[in-house]
Amino acid sequence: MKMIRTIMELRQTLAAVRSEGRQIGLVPTMGFLHDGHLSLIRRAAEENSLVVVSIFVNPLQFGPQEDYAAYPRDLPRDCSLAESAGADIVFAPEVEEMYPQASLTYVEIAVLGDELCGRSRPGHFRGVCTVVSKLLHIVQPERAYFGRKDAQQLAIIQRMAEDLNFPVQIVPVPICREPDGLAMSSRNSYLSPEERSQARVLFRALRESEQAFAAGERESRVFQARIKELIEQIPGTQIDYIEICATQTLQPVEQIDHQALLALAVRFGRTRLIDNCLLTEEK
Ligand code: PAF
Repeated sequence: MKMIRTIMELRQTLAAVRSEGRQIGLVPTMGFLHDGHLSLIRRAAEENSLVVVSIFVNPLQFGPQEDYAAYPRDLPRDCSLAESAGADIVFAPEVEEMYPQASLTYVEIAVLGDELCGRSRPGHFRGVCTVVSKLLHIVQPERAYFGRKDAQQLAIIQRMAEDLNFPVQIVPVPICREPDGLAMSSRNSYLSPEERSQARVLFRALRESEQAFAAGERESRVFQARIKELIEQIPGTQIDYIEICATQTLQPVEQIDHQALLALAVRFGRTRLIDNCLLTEEK
Protein backbone atom coordinates (compact mmCIF):
# COMPACT_ATOMS: atom_id res chain seq x y z
CA MET A 1 0.00 0.00 0.00
CA LYS A 2 1.19 3.48 -0.83
CA MET A 3 0.74 6.64 1.24
CA ILE A 4 0.43 9.81 -0.80
CA ARG A 5 0.50 13.34 0.60
CA THR A 6 0.10 15.55 -2.46
CA ILE A 7 -2.65 16.05 -5.02
CA MET A 8 -0.14 16.06 -7.85
CA GLU A 9 1.36 12.68 -6.95
CA LEU A 10 -2.11 11.19 -6.45
CA ARG A 11 -3.28 12.48 -9.84
CA GLN A 12 -0.19 11.10 -11.60
CA THR A 13 -0.54 7.71 -9.90
CA LEU A 14 -4.25 7.46 -10.71
CA ALA A 15 -3.79 8.54 -14.34
CA ALA A 16 -1.52 5.51 -14.83
CA VAL A 17 -4.09 3.27 -13.09
CA ARG A 18 -6.92 4.58 -15.27
CA SER A 19 -4.89 4.08 -18.45
CA GLU A 20 -4.76 0.36 -17.58
CA GLY A 21 -8.58 0.37 -17.57
CA ARG A 22 -8.76 -0.25 -13.83
CA GLN A 23 -11.75 0.99 -11.82
CA ILE A 24 -11.17 3.20 -8.80
CA GLY A 25 -13.17 3.16 -5.55
CA LEU A 26 -12.89 6.07 -3.11
CA VAL A 27 -13.54 5.85 0.63
CA PRO A 28 -13.47 9.37 2.10
CA THR A 29 -12.75 9.41 5.85
CA MET A 30 -11.48 11.69 8.58
CA GLY A 31 -9.32 8.87 9.94
CA PHE A 32 -9.19 7.22 13.37
CA LEU A 33 -10.56 4.23 11.51
CA HIS A 34 -12.91 1.73 13.13
CA ASP A 35 -14.71 -1.36 11.84
CA GLY A 36 -17.35 0.83 10.18
CA HIS A 37 -14.69 2.43 7.97
CA LEU A 38 -13.11 -0.96 7.36
CA SER A 39 -16.43 -2.31 6.08
CA LEU A 40 -16.49 0.57 3.54
CA ILE A 41 -12.94 -0.26 2.45
CA ARG A 42 -13.68 -3.99 2.15
CA ARG A 43 -16.77 -3.27 0.06
CA ALA A 44 -14.76 -0.91 -2.16
CA ALA A 45 -12.07 -3.59 -2.58
CA GLU A 46 -14.71 -6.11 -3.69
CA GLU A 47 -16.14 -3.80 -6.35
CA ASN A 48 -13.07 -1.97 -7.72
CA SER A 49 -9.58 -2.91 -8.81
CA LEU A 50 -7.98 -0.05 -6.88
CA VAL A 51 -9.09 1.51 -3.59
CA VAL A 52 -8.14 5.00 -2.43
CA VAL A 53 -8.86 5.86 1.22
CA SER A 54 -8.64 9.56 1.98
CA ILE A 55 -7.77 10.54 5.53
CA PHE A 56 -8.32 14.22 6.10
CA VAL A 57 -9.81 15.99 9.11
CA ASN A 58 -11.57 18.70 7.17
CA PRO A 59 -11.50 22.02 9.06
CA LEU A 60 -14.25 23.42 6.84
CA GLN A 61 -16.91 21.15 8.31
CA PHE A 62 -16.27 22.06 11.97
CA GLY A 63 -17.89 25.04 13.65
CA PRO A 64 -15.75 27.42 15.77
CA GLN A 65 -16.87 25.78 19.04
CA GLU A 66 -16.57 22.22 17.71
CA ASP A 67 -13.94 19.51 18.16
CA TYR A 68 -11.62 20.11 15.18
CA ALA A 69 -8.46 20.39 17.32
CA ALA A 70 -9.45 17.50 19.60
CA TYR A 71 -10.64 15.19 16.81
CA PRO A 72 -8.74 11.89 17.29
CA ARG A 73 -5.88 11.30 14.84
CA ASP A 74 -3.54 8.30 14.40
CA LEU A 75 -2.19 8.08 10.86
CA PRO A 76 0.26 5.14 11.30
CA ARG A 77 -2.48 3.00 12.86
CA ASP A 78 -4.98 4.09 10.17
CA CYS A 79 -2.56 3.13 7.39
CA SER A 80 -2.06 -0.39 8.68
CA LEU A 81 -5.82 -0.87 9.26
CA ALA A 82 -6.66 0.49 5.80
CA GLU A 83 -4.10 -1.82 4.21
CA SER A 84 -5.45 -4.84 6.09
CA ALA A 85 -8.95 -4.08 4.75
CA GLY A 86 -7.75 -3.85 1.14
CA ALA A 87 -6.76 -0.21 0.50
CA ASP A 88 -4.14 0.34 -2.22
CA ILE A 89 -3.55 4.03 -1.57
CA VAL A 90 -4.03 6.20 1.51
CA PHE A 91 -4.29 9.84 0.52
CA ALA A 92 -3.47 11.92 3.62
CA PRO A 93 -2.98 15.56 2.62
CA GLU A 94 -2.11 18.36 5.04
CA VAL A 95 -4.64 21.18 5.38
CA GLU A 96 -2.34 23.45 3.31
CA GLU A 97 -2.43 20.93 0.47
CA MET A 98 -6.23 20.84 0.32
CA TYR A 99 -6.71 24.55 1.08
CA PRO A 100 -3.55 26.41 -0.02
CA GLN A 101 -5.43 29.70 0.17
CA ALA A 102 -8.59 30.87 1.88
CA SER A 103 -11.39 29.39 -0.27
CA LEU A 104 -13.67 31.74 -2.13
CA THR A 105 -15.61 28.87 -3.66
CA TYR A 106 -17.86 26.46 -1.78
CA VAL A 107 -20.40 23.80 -2.62
CA GLU A 108 -23.59 24.32 -0.68
CA ILE A 109 -26.80 22.33 -0.85
CA ALA A 110 -30.11 24.07 -0.17
CA VAL A 111 -32.86 22.71 2.10
CA LEU A 112 -31.31 19.29 2.88
CA GLY A 113 -28.32 20.94 4.56
CA ASP A 114 -30.57 22.98 6.87
CA GLU A 115 -32.46 20.04 8.38
CA LEU A 116 -31.48 17.72 11.28
CA CYS A 117 -27.75 18.22 12.07
CA GLY A 118 -27.72 21.34 9.88
CA ARG A 119 -29.81 23.17 12.50
CA SER A 120 -27.23 22.85 15.26
CA ARG A 121 -24.17 22.72 12.95
CA PRO A 122 -24.56 25.67 10.57
CA GLY A 123 -22.04 25.46 7.71
CA HIS A 124 -21.24 21.81 8.43
CA PHE A 125 -22.70 20.40 5.22
CA ARG A 126 -21.19 23.19 3.15
CA GLY A 127 -17.83 21.99 4.47
CA VAL A 128 -18.69 18.35 3.74
CA CYS A 129 -19.99 19.06 0.21
CA THR A 130 -16.96 21.21 -0.58
CA VAL A 131 -14.36 18.67 0.54
CA VAL A 132 -16.20 15.70 -1.00
CA SER A 133 -16.46 17.62 -4.32
CA LYS A 134 -12.73 18.31 -4.18
CA LEU A 135 -11.94 14.66 -3.43
CA LEU A 136 -14.22 13.46 -6.24
CA HIS A 137 -12.49 15.84 -8.67
CA ILE A 138 -9.02 14.81 -7.53
CA VAL A 139 -9.61 11.03 -7.49
CA GLN A 140 -12.31 10.70 -10.20
CA PRO A 141 -13.48 7.35 -8.86
CA GLU A 142 -16.08 5.11 -10.47
CA ARG A 143 -17.61 4.60 -7.01
CA ALA A 144 -17.48 6.40 -3.66
CA TYR A 145 -18.52 4.75 -0.39
CA PHE A 146 -20.42 6.37 2.51
CA GLY A 147 -21.83 4.85 5.70
CA ARG A 148 -25.55 4.93 6.47
CA LYS A 149 -24.84 6.11 10.04
CA ASP A 150 -24.51 9.61 8.61
CA ALA A 151 -27.87 9.31 6.85
CA GLN A 152 -28.19 13.04 6.24
CA GLN A 153 -24.67 13.25 4.82
CA LEU A 154 -25.44 10.31 2.53
CA ALA A 155 -28.69 11.87 1.26
CA ILE A 156 -26.89 15.18 0.69
CA ILE A 157 -23.98 13.65 -1.19
CA GLN A 158 -26.29 11.56 -3.36
CA ARG A 159 -28.28 14.68 -4.23
CA MET A 160 -25.16 16.79 -4.82
CA ALA A 161 -23.73 14.13 -7.16
CA GLU A 162 -27.02 14.09 -9.11
CA ASP A 163 -27.42 17.87 -9.23
CA LEU A 164 -23.83 18.49 -10.31
CA ASN A 165 -23.54 15.45 -12.63
CA PHE A 166 -20.57 13.91 -10.88
CA PRO A 167 -19.74 10.78 -12.92
CA VAL A 168 -19.63 8.60 -9.83
CA GLN A 169 -21.84 6.01 -8.20
CA ILE A 170 -22.46 6.82 -4.53
CA VAL A 171 -22.59 3.51 -2.66
CA PRO A 172 -24.34 3.41 0.75
CA VAL A 173 -22.94 0.89 3.26
CA PRO A 174 -24.89 -0.43 6.31
CA ILE A 175 -24.19 0.84 9.83
CA CYS A 176 -21.60 -1.15 11.81
CA ARG A 177 -22.49 -1.63 15.47
CA GLU A 178 -20.66 -2.65 18.62
CA PRO A 179 -21.91 -5.93 20.17
CA ASP A 180 -24.27 -3.93 22.44
CA GLY A 181 -25.71 -2.01 19.49
CA LEU A 182 -23.89 1.33 19.74
CA ALA A 183 -23.15 2.58 16.21
CA MET A 184 -19.41 2.76 15.57
CA SER A 185 -18.05 6.28 15.46
CA SER A 186 -14.64 7.88 15.94
CA ARG A 187 -16.34 10.15 18.49
CA ASN A 188 -17.21 7.17 20.73
CA SER A 189 -13.63 7.49 21.98
CA TYR A 190 -14.66 10.73 23.78
CA LEU A 191 -17.19 8.91 26.01
CA SER A 192 -16.41 8.20 29.68
CA PRO A 193 -17.21 4.60 30.76
CA GLU A 194 -20.48 5.85 32.26
CA GLU A 195 -21.48 7.79 29.13
CA ARG A 196 -20.50 4.80 26.97
CA SER A 197 -22.93 2.66 28.91
CA GLN A 198 -25.67 5.33 28.79
CA ALA A 199 -25.26 5.68 25.01
CA ARG A 200 -26.78 2.22 24.53
CA VAL A 201 -30.14 3.96 24.89
CA LEU A 202 -29.88 5.10 21.26
CA PHE A 203 -29.95 1.55 19.93
CA ARG A 204 -32.67 0.62 22.40
CA ALA A 205 -34.81 3.54 21.20
CA LEU A 206 -34.32 2.55 17.56
CA ARG A 207 -35.12 -1.14 18.18
CA GLU A 208 -38.25 -0.30 20.19
CA SER A 209 -39.36 2.02 17.41
CA GLU A 210 -38.86 -0.67 14.78
CA GLN A 211 -40.97 -3.02 16.89
CA ALA A 212 -43.71 -0.40 17.30
CA PHE A 213 -43.64 0.24 13.54
CA ALA A 214 -43.90 -3.52 12.84
CA ALA A 215 -46.88 -3.61 15.22
CA GLY A 216 -48.63 -0.94 13.13
CA GLU A 217 -47.75 2.42 14.74
CA ARG A 218 -47.49 5.20 12.11
CA GLU A 219 -47.81 8.49 14.08
CA SER A 220 -44.45 10.27 14.27
CA ARG A 221 -45.30 12.06 17.51
CA VAL A 222 -45.93 8.71 19.25
CA PHE A 223 -42.43 7.48 18.33
CA GLN A 224 -40.91 10.81 19.31
CA ALA A 225 -42.64 10.93 22.70
CA ARG A 226 -41.53 7.39 23.61
CA ILE A 227 -37.92 8.03 22.57
CA LYS A 228 -37.85 11.33 24.48
CA GLU A 229 -39.13 9.53 27.58
CA LEU A 230 -36.44 6.83 27.27
CA ILE A 231 -33.60 9.29 26.80
CA GLU A 232 -34.72 11.75 29.46
CA GLN A 233 -34.57 9.00 32.06
CA ILE A 234 -30.79 9.24 31.77
CA PRO A 235 -29.22 12.14 33.69
CA GLY A 236 -26.81 14.36 31.78
CA THR A 237 -28.25 13.66 28.32
CA GLN A 238 -29.39 16.44 26.06
CA ILE A 239 -31.57 15.73 23.04
CA ASP A 240 -30.60 17.66 19.93
CA TYR A 241 -33.30 16.11 17.75
CA ILE A 242 -35.58 13.12 17.35
CA GLU A 243 -36.81 13.36 13.77
CA ILE A 244 -38.93 11.25 11.51
CA CYS A 245 -38.51 12.37 7.94
CA ALA A 246 -38.62 11.41 4.28
CA THR A 247 -35.48 9.47 3.33
CA GLN A 248 -34.42 11.60 0.37
CA THR A 249 -35.85 15.07 1.03
CA LEU A 250 -35.35 14.83 4.82
CA GLN A 251 -38.59 16.76 5.30
CA PRO A 252 -40.44 15.86 8.54
CA VAL A 253 -43.45 13.57 8.21
CA GLU A 254 -46.35 13.48 10.70
CA GLN A 255 -47.76 10.19 9.54
CA ILE A 256 -45.46 7.53 8.12
CA ASP A 257 -46.62 6.20 4.80
CA HIS A 258 -44.68 3.04 3.92
CA GLN A 259 -41.22 4.20 4.97
CA ALA A 260 -39.37 6.97 6.80
CA LEU A 261 -36.01 7.72 8.34
CA LEU A 262 -35.90 7.89 12.14
CA ALA A 263 -32.85 9.98 13.06
CA LEU A 264 -31.52 10.87 16.51
CA ALA A 265 -28.85 13.24 17.79
CA VAL A 266 -28.18 13.24 21.52
CA ARG A 267 -25.42 14.62 23.73
CA PHE A 268 -23.91 12.39 26.41
CA GLY A 269 -21.95 14.88 28.48
CA ARG A 270 -19.95 16.81 25.89
CA THR A 271 -20.16 14.14 23.19
CA ARG A 272 -22.83 14.43 20.53
CA LEU A 273 -23.79 11.11 18.93
CA ILE A 274 -26.07 10.42 15.99
CA ASP A 275 -27.84 7.24 14.96
CA ASN A 276 -30.75 6.27 12.76
CA CYS A 277 -32.85 3.49 11.32
CA LEU A 278 -35.23 3.07 8.46
CA LEU A 279 -38.83 2.40 9.46
CA THR A 280 -40.02 0.49 6.44
CA GLU A 281 -42.72 -1.92 5.33
CA GLU A 282 -40.30 -3.38 2.81
CA LYS A 283 -38.53 -6.51 3.97
O1 PAF B 1 -18.04 11.22 7.15
C1 PAF B 1 -16.92 11.75 7.24
O2 PAF B 1 -16.00 11.19 7.84
C2 PAF B 1 -16.68 13.10 6.61
O3 PAF B 1 -17.79 13.93 6.73
C3 PAF B 1 -16.22 13.03 5.15
C4 PAF B 1 -17.29 12.42 4.25
C5 PAF B 1 -14.95 12.18 5.06
C6 PAF B 1 -15.90 14.43 4.62
O4 PAF B 1 -14.90 15.04 5.37
